[in-house]
Amino acid sequence: MKTAVYHKYGPPGVVQVEDIPSPRPGPDEVLVRVRATTVSSADWRARSLSMPRGFGAFGRPAFGFFGPRQKVLGTAFAGEIADVGANVTRFQRGDRVFGDCGIKMGAHAEFKLLKADAALANMPDDLGFEEAAALVFGGTVALVFLRDKGKIQPGERVLVNGASGEVGVAMVQLARHFGAEVLGVCSGANADLVRGLGATTIDYAIEDFVDHGPFDVIIDTVGNAGWVRSQPALRDGGRLLLVLAGLREMLLAPLRAKRHGKRAIAGMAMGTAEDLALLATLATSGAIKPIIGKVFALQDVRAAHRLVDSGHKVGSVVLRMG
Ligand SMILES: NC(=O)c1ccc[n+]([C@@H]2O[C@H](COP(=O)([O-])OP(=O)(O)OC[C@H]3O[C@@H](n4cnc5c(N)ncnc54)[C@H](OP(=O)(O)O)[C@@H]3O)[C@@H](O)[C@H]2O)c1
Repeated sequence: MKTAVYHKYGPPGVVQVEDIPSPRPGPDEVLVRVRATTVSSADWRARSLSMPRGFGAFGRPAFGFFGPRQKVLGTAFAGEIADVGANVTRFQRGDRVFGDCGIKMGAHAEFKLLKADAALANMPDDLGFEEAAALVFGGTVALVFLRDKGKIQPGERVLVNGASGEVGVAMVQLARHFGAEVLGVCSGANADLVRGLGATTIDYAIEDFVDHGPFDVIIDTVGNAGWVRSQPALRDGGRLLLVLAGLREMLLAPLRAKRHGKRAIAGMAMGTAEDLALLATLATSGAIKPIIGKVFALQDVRAAHRLVDSGHKVGSVVLRMG
C-alpha cells in the first residue's frame, strides 16, 4: 500500500511516498481503506518536533528518541471498511466510516488498522470522504473544549482567537450550535468565511479583542491570548480555554484565574467514537459543515505539509488517497 512516511524529524522534505505491506486485521480489529485524510497542525508538530514553548523536552519522548517511532503521520481519515476481524460486529465490509487515530497517528496510508472500538463512526451519508475527513480534527477538539472543559451555555458570549484555522472554524460552528454569540478573530482575508459560519469578526491586524469584551468564554487557538491579555476581557465566572499554550502558561493560568474567580483550562483533547457520531449527526442536520482550504493528491504530500507549516491555512488541508 502507498503511504506518506518520514524517517527523521525535519521540514516537509523529510516526508516521502513509499510502498509498504498492507496490514491484516486481528480478531478485534477492522481494516479501513482510507480515501481521504488530513495534514494538520498535529502532523506539523510530530514531523518537525515544533512543540509549544516549554514543551521542547517532551517531543522526543512522545514521538521517538532517535527518530519517529510512528513513521506514518495522520490523525483524521475517512474511508470504507475493507475487512473485519472474526469478533467484530460493530462494522461490516463496505461501511463508510470516518475516524481519529489520535496521537498514535498512521492515517496517511491507503489502509489503516484500528481496534473496532476505536474513535471510528459511520460517516454522514450526504458527505464525501474529503468532507468527512475534514470534520474530524477540529470537530473533536472543539467538542471537547466547548462542551466538556468549557461547559458552554446558550446565550453566552464567546471569543474565538484564530477563527479561520482548522480548530477555529469548528469552534465557531459548535459554539453557535450550543447557542452562543461568537466573535471571531481572524485576518481580513478570512472574515467573509468566518462570518458565513455565524460569527461577527474582527481583524487581528487592526483591532484587539480585549476592547470588545466582556466575554463568558475566550478560546485561544493561536497562543497569544494567555491569561494576562485575556483576563480583563473575561466576565466574572468566565473561562479561558487554552487550546494552545506554553508550559508556563498552562501551569500558572489556572492558579491566577482561580484568584480572580475565573477559570483557565488547558490540556489535550481526544475525540471518541461517540463524539464522531455526534459530529456526523450535526453535519447531516446542517448545524456544522466541513471547511476545506485545499485538497492535495498523496504524491503532493510535501506541498500539503508546507501549507500547514505556514500557520495560515484555512480550515482543513485534505490529502486524497488513491
Ligand atoms: N490542546 C489540544 O488538544 C490541541 C488540539 C489541536 C490543536 N492544538 C493546537 O492548536 C493550534 C491551532 O491549530 P489549528 O489546527 O487550528 O491551526 P491552523 O489551522 O494552522 O490555524 C491557525 C490559525 O491562526 C490564525 N492566526 C495566525 N496569527 C494570528 C493572530 N495573530 N491572531 C489571530 N489569529 C491568527 C491563522 O489565521 P490567518 O491565516 O487568517 O492569519 C490560522 O487560521 C496549534 O498550535 C495546535 O498545536 C491543540
